[in-house]
Amino acid sequence: MSRLIVVSNRVSAPRGSHSGAQGGLAVALSAALQEYRGIWFGWSGEVTDQFTGQISFEREHGVTTATIDLEPQDVEEYYDGYANRTLWPLFHYRVDLAEFERGFADGYQRVNERFAQTLMPLIEPDDVVWIQDYHLLPLGQELRRRGARERMGFFLHIPWPPRRLLSTLPVAEELVRTLFAYDVIGFQTDEWLQSFLDYVREEMGGHIEGDHVVLGERRIRVMACPIGIDAENFAQLARSPQARMAYRNMRDSAVGRDMIIGVDRLDYSKGLEERFLGYERFLKEHPAARKEVFLLQIAPPSRAAVESYRIIRASLDSLSGRVNGAYADLDWVPIRYVNQGYSRDVLAGVYRAAKIGLVTPLRDGMNLVAKEYVAAQDPEDPGVLILSRFAGAASQLTAAVLVNPHSAEEISDAIMTALRMRREERIERWRSLMDNVEREDVVWWRQTFVSALMGEDQALLVDS
Ligand code: G6P
Repeated sequence: MSRLIVVSNRVSAPRGSHSGAQGGLAVALSAALQEYRGIWFGWSGEVTDQFTGQISFEREHGVTTATIDLEPQDVEEYYDGYANRTLWPLFHYRVDLAEFERGFADGYQRVNERFAQTLMPLIEPDDVVWIQDYHLLPLGQELRRRGARERMGFFLHIPWPPRRLLSTLPVAEELVRTLFAYDVIGFQTDEWLQSFLDYVREEMGGHIEGDHVVLGERRIRVMACPIGIDAENFAQLARSPQARMAYRNMRDSAVGRDMIIGVDRLDYSKGLEERFLGYERFLKEHPAARKEVFLLQIAPPSRAAVESYRIIRASLDSLSGRVNGAYADLDWVPIRYVNQGYSRDVLAGVYRAAKIGLVTPLRDGMNLVAKEYVAAQDPEDPGVLILSRFAGAASQLTAAVLVNPHSAEEISDAIMTALRMRREERIERWRSLMDNVEREDVVWWRQTFVSALMGEDQALLVDS
């Protein structure tokens, strides 16, 4: 069996992951890698004065991690810069926030070369290399330049922007061209895949042949392959002693009120301001229902070196303060706003205690919190998921109450609908959601992508 080498910017130990704090990628890959004889390569998260390319190996719970440290300038230009001030906003449709600086682009290229240079000696013939996310778009090409002949795939965890937005990125075409070094490229949804194909066709003169795209000499496989969670494990976690304790604490502190839960990295793409405004509208429009509910918003700070993140944080501080100031009473606060992350078992208990899961990103590659909320519910008395139409997860979780996250009215109406929803309807919707979360789970995601990468799914088609 071939070894799998997974590469991502962030590498994290397979246990003790905080889903809110780390984002879905780390959590999903931990689950996927536990069963694989392979290596997970990436940045240690540490900074060193001078880049040495020295690799630290660790083995824990069946996963070997291999990490390197970066220089301060690397972090500034590659991670804070090109990845999070240029690509992240642009790929989340926020051209207004995207900063185009040559220094960022140079640092991004340099770090991708450093990754390639240090990773190359670890690759053995027959290995399969699977590169993750927007930090490492050109890594495949850098490995090929250094002689890598192995099969190589790339998966994008965030949206792919529409063609006309991507065109605002200087040297967009060169960046997209580097992706043709891979054998397979995966996207979370068909919408992002179509945007990619549109760009390649209209701006680069490529053409589509079934599930392949051809550009010059290169013919690569493309697919939509939505990432999932370890559903069974998460459902069990929701019944663990830690989760039960968190559940009881939440129930006690709710004193009979219904809890609405939001859990997101503190990021402008998550629609947190719009969510607070939608909730405020609900409070205003339904005075009688006001004290029946409260919103617990867990939002661990993220990417604090980037100004747009400091701005959104300050704005949420002020907005939550204003709503609480206007509506709170002696015995009730409408928004509990918490800026820290919690362990997965505590979160599972908190999700289970919540009558409503409010997941309203303005744009999101997938959103695994929506899936975790579903998996944590009590099948006999499940809560209601309110989900943004603009999250990748909405293409699968169609039995959620779907909303336009820009509309305070729709958010307010959806909260009312969810609060008044009869148990039979809640169960029916939840069953349909859970069927999807269980069927298209993280194992399915990994197997679907990796078998495409190894060409196995094509072999099956020929056989049948
Ligand atoms: C998103 C990205 C991941 C990233 C995570 C957390 O889920 O797709 O690649 O790891 O956010 O962000 P951070 O910048 O803390 O790694």
